[in-house]
Amino acid sequence: MTLISPSILAADAGRLAEEAASAEAAGADWLHLDVMDGNFVPNITFGPWIVKTSAKAVRIPLDAHLMVADPLHWGPVFAAEGARWVTIHAEATVHLHKALAAIRDKGAMAGVALNPCTPLGVVEPLVPYIDLLLIMGVNPGFAGQPFIPETTERVRLASRLVKEKGAPILIEVDGGVTGGNAGELARAGADALVSGSFLFNSTDRAATVRGLKAAGGDLP
Ligand code: DX5
Ligand code: ZN
Repeated sequence: MTLISPSILAADAGRLAEEAASAEAAGADWLHLDVMDGNFVPNITFGPWIVKTSAKAVRIPLDAHLMVADPLHWGPVFAAEGARWVTIHAEATVHLHKALAAIRDKGAMAGVALNPCTPLGVVEPLVPYIDLLLIMGVNPGFAGQPFIPETTERVRLASRLVKEKGAPILIEVDGGVTGGNAGELARAGADALVSGSFLFNSTDRAATVRGLKAAGGDLP
């Protein structure tokens, strides 16, 4: 069964606490927090306060995805606020090792995210230092964009790399995930799927979460 991490970026922003609680009640495993600084990506969302605010609304682990130009500064801040998973972009800093270590030092699980055309090879030296590898299915910045089809093959290759290393790294896919591609992504090796618009716009969120979780069928 695939882990499902609903992105509140696609929720009704005027009712964030209710929307987060509704995602948890629907069976979500994590809550995905898309943090954007208007610099690394052309959009701005919320700052570190979102972690404590979300923690008041739900009990599931918080999955912070930092699309920010200074992950060395913000990574440990979000970890210290209490996010269980803190994922930073490989493209954002030349000090990845340092930034990942700073996240773990604050007690969170450290993740690395890759934009659609960032070579997977960047992950190899990072294997001992990450707990999660996030493969983007869209260009980061906005919810509701169409899935880039080559992502599935990237997930397959990333999954192979992680298995070869025997590392306990979860693979998460983020952006453009729907009922139409969740199955192929799970079979390609995705352990966790982020769902924004597909989930929050659905009329029966519990059924949507169940469908996404089971979409991989009988995984090998
Ligand atoms: C994109 C974000 C994604 C996005 C997911 O920058 O990282 O988490 O909000 O939304 P959907 O599922 O609508 O693509
Ligand atoms: Zn995200």
